[in-house]
Parts: sequence; C-alpha cells; structure tokens
Amino acid sequence: MSNDPIKMWSGRFREPLDRTFEQWQRSFPFDWRLLPQEVAASKAHAQTIAAAGILTPDELDRTLAGLTRVGERAINWSNRISATSGQIDYETSDEQIGAAIVASAPQAEDIHHFVELELTKELGTLALKLHTGRSRNEQIATDMRLFVRESIDSTLRGLERWIDALISLAESAGTAVMPSYTHLQRAEPVLIAHWLLAYVSMAERDHSRLLDARARMNFCPLGSGAVAGATLTLDRNIAAAALKFEAPTPNSMDATSDRDFAIEFTQCLCILGLHISRFAEELTLYSTAEFGFIDLPERFSTGSSAMPQKKNPDLTELLRGKCGRLAGAATTLTIIVKGLPLAYNKDLQEGQEPVFDAADTIAGILSVLPSFTKALRFRLDTMKLAATSGYLNAMAAATYLTHKGVPFRKAHEIVGNAVRFALEKGVELDELSQDDLESFSPEFGPDFRHAIALQATIDCHNVIGGTATAQVQQALLRAGERAKKRTHPGRTSVAEAPHA
Ligand code: ARG
Repeated sequence: MSNDPIKMWSGRFREPLDRTFEQWQRSFPFDWRLLPQEVAASKAHAQTIAAAGILTPDELDRTLAGLTRVGERAINWSNRISATSGQIDYETSDEQIGAAIVASAPQAEDIHHFVELELTKELGTLALKLHTGRSRNEQIATDMRLFVRESIDSTLRGLERWIDALISLAESAGTAVMPSYTHLQRAEPVLIAHWLLAYVSMAERDHSRLLDARARMNFCPLGSGAVAGATLTLDRNIAAAALKFEAPTPNSMDATSDRDFAIEFTQCLCILGLHISRFAEELTLYSTAEFGFIDLPERFSTGSSAMPQKKNPDLTELLRGKCGRLAGAATTLTIIVKGLPLAYNKDLQEGQEPVFDAADTIAGILSVLPSFTKALRFRLDTMKLAATSGYLNAMAAATYLTHKGVPFRKAHEIVGNAVRFALEKGVELDELSQDDLESFSPEFGPDFRHAIALQATIDCHNVIGGTATAQVQQALLRAGERAKKRTHPGRTSVAEAPHA
C-alpha cells in the first residue's frame, strides 16, 4: 500500500514512486505561474458545482474566500507589467518569486495540486469537494487558455504603443527622404515616413492576427472532464461566463487535448518577431558609419569594455536575437503536438514552457521597443544625399520618356545607356548636357531635369500605397485614425476579474 495522503492519485498503487522520477515529472517548478489562472478557474468551477447542488451556498462562500486567500500571493506577479506604460518591474524577478513558491511546496506535483494542498490548509476537508466533476486535463487546458488570452491582451497593448511610436516618428519626419533598397542596393528615393509606415502595416496585421487568434481560442474547456465530459450534469455556461469566455468548448476530447490555441499564439508572435527583427536589422545597419543614417540614442546603446570608441547597437541586436526564441517556441510546440493520439497525453505538459518563454520574450521586447522607436533621430542630410546620388532617379527618367511616347523597354535601354555614360564621366543624370542627353534620345526635352528632380521622383509614385507626398500624408492620417479607434477586449487581467 502506498496510500499517500498528499498525492492526488495514490489509491490504486502498491509501490511508492521512484524519487528521481517523481521530481523529474513535476510541472510545479514552472507551472506555479499559472496560480492566478488556476484560482480563477477553480472559483468558476466552484460556482458551477454549487449550482448543481454539490456545494451549499455557505460552502461556496467559504470555498471562494479560501481560493481568494490562496490566490493573493499571485497579485504581485500579475501586476508586474504596468497596463499603461508597458514597463516591467525588474526589481523582483520571476525566478525569485517562483523559487520561493516552489520551495514552499516541495510535494506539489503541479499547480492544480498546489492549490488543492493550500486550500486544504485553509478549509480542511471542504477543500476536497472542489475536485468533484472535474479533471486536471480540463484544468490545464483552461489555465493555459486564460494565460494565453492575457498575454495576447498585453501584447496587443504593447503593439499599440509601438504603432503610436512609429506614427509619431513618421509625422516628425515630414517630407524628409531616404533611399529605398532592393537587393540591399539603392533603388528609388522614398519618404522616411513611407518606410516607417511599412512597419505600421506589418504591426497592424500582427495586431489583427492576434485578435483573430483570441476570438478563436476564447472558449471554456471546464466541464470537459478527463476526456469524455463531466460525470455530472453541470451547467457549463456558468464557468464560461465567469471566466469571460465566449461559450463552453463544443467537444470534450478536442478541448482537453488540443493546443492549437497555444501554437497559433506562438506562431503569431513568431511573425510579429520577424517584423521586429527586420526593423532591428535595418536600424543596426543604418547606425553603422557606412550608412550613417541614425545616431543611436545613448540611453539605448552600450559601450565596449575593450574598444573605448565604440557605441554598440545592443538593443537592436537583442531584438533580432530574441525574435529567434519566438520562432523556437512555435516550433517546439508544433512538434510536441505532432503525432499525439487523442486525447490528453502528458507530453502536453512540455508545451507550457515554450508558451511562457514566448510570452515573457514578447513582453520584454515590447517594454523597450516603443520608447526606443520614439527616441530615434535621423541624420536627414546623410539620408537625403544617399537618396539623391547613385541614379535613384533612373526609373523616373525612363518614365519621363514613356510620357513622350517611347515604349518602356526602349526607354529603359536609353536611360541605361545614359547612366553608363554618366558613370564613366562621374556625374549624375541631371548633370549631363542637353547635347549629351539628345545623343541618347531626341525625346529628352528641357523639362527633363525637372522630371528627375528629387520632388518629382518622389511624387511620380502617386498611387494608393505609393511614396508620393500626398499619398503618404493621407496614409499617415488614416493610420492615425485607425490607431485612435483601435480597441480590443479583455483589458483587465483575470486575476482581478470579479468571481468572488
Ligand atoms: N501538469 C499536467 C499538465 O501540465 C496537468 C494535467 C495532468 N493530467 C494527467 N492526467 N496526469 O499537463
């Protein structure tokens, strides 16, 4: 007989667990951070079983109050990210909090067991009624959904701050220009605002992708039981409403065993990470002496312990590096779920840490990215010089000829010849003499120089989505309007949600 009063499942076992295996299989060393979610889900379940007559109204009150006390230690953790500024309180580390909690309950197998043990200290045997009609399989599925939902909400808030920062930087860039690149070779001049608005577009899609994912995952697994549904006739709508889910999940096997919501979350973060990483890479390049477009703000740069002259772009490099972790989390989760037979399998426990890591990584990134973006200052003269040298107006020159009736292929060749000639002479296209120009085509008229001047080279892109000044002004206005209107559900954390 190994009946261990502390364990949740020792009744059918004759032998005690191998000590090493017992420690190795525990998830409490990392799932302690689901305490706010576990408490909220337990309160919702208590309400459900009270409605089914399992708890008396008085027992329900005592259970809810006991759970509140157990959950109180969670408050400091969940408030570490400020909702308004997005700043993280780094004074107390997760590791310190976690280590203290985990050390306080060496026998807890996982967060569900921990809450049961703590609640038993509070309420005695009444605590043991709470597991009536539920299974840890539905609990972990619920806790993870609540965790992911909260992380989506804080990511949305962070993204909104980044979008605001990009828009205000674009506004202050006015009509200043820079070169655009294809193949990392100078291509055509664009407005700096146009380049920044490219990232606004990416971030807006990331925002809507996360909102879509949120809507798809916002269903409550409670009442799904271990695999086949609760063994009592429970009104599942009670818990779903208490936890602000849209409705109960429609299939118990799916609800307890799929983690597509977590995979989708990490994949959304992976794509967002790709966008942030490209931005970071561009800024890293632009801050080099070779480009010289940006003077990195000192308060976001670091020095070298060896080379006294250095100012290093650690922030953008770390952004680039951390985005690799987001891709890693998405891959890990995907491969854990691949090939699992329905329904719950313990492999799924391994899916928690990549989710936590991805959530922490994006929270960290978004705690610095908006303020860093706002602090960026461009070297406008250098950018303008780069945009006005090296024949970036060649395509506008070819387009000029097409307006004179020259077919574009022909115009391309004529301008190509003129560029070759200008390269040999070491001048720009607008420095060629009228005679030289006419030797390439009689269609080059006196209005040519105006047509390839910087302003015209920008403004000829007068299409929706183009870099013409008027188009960018409109695009900026519309981006600002969208930013003002942008809202999303769930601004309160579940730890503060009113269940008691
Ligand atoms: N700690 C477990 C996990 O994260 C909870 C579910 C355990 N269920 C079970 N049948 N052993 O997946």
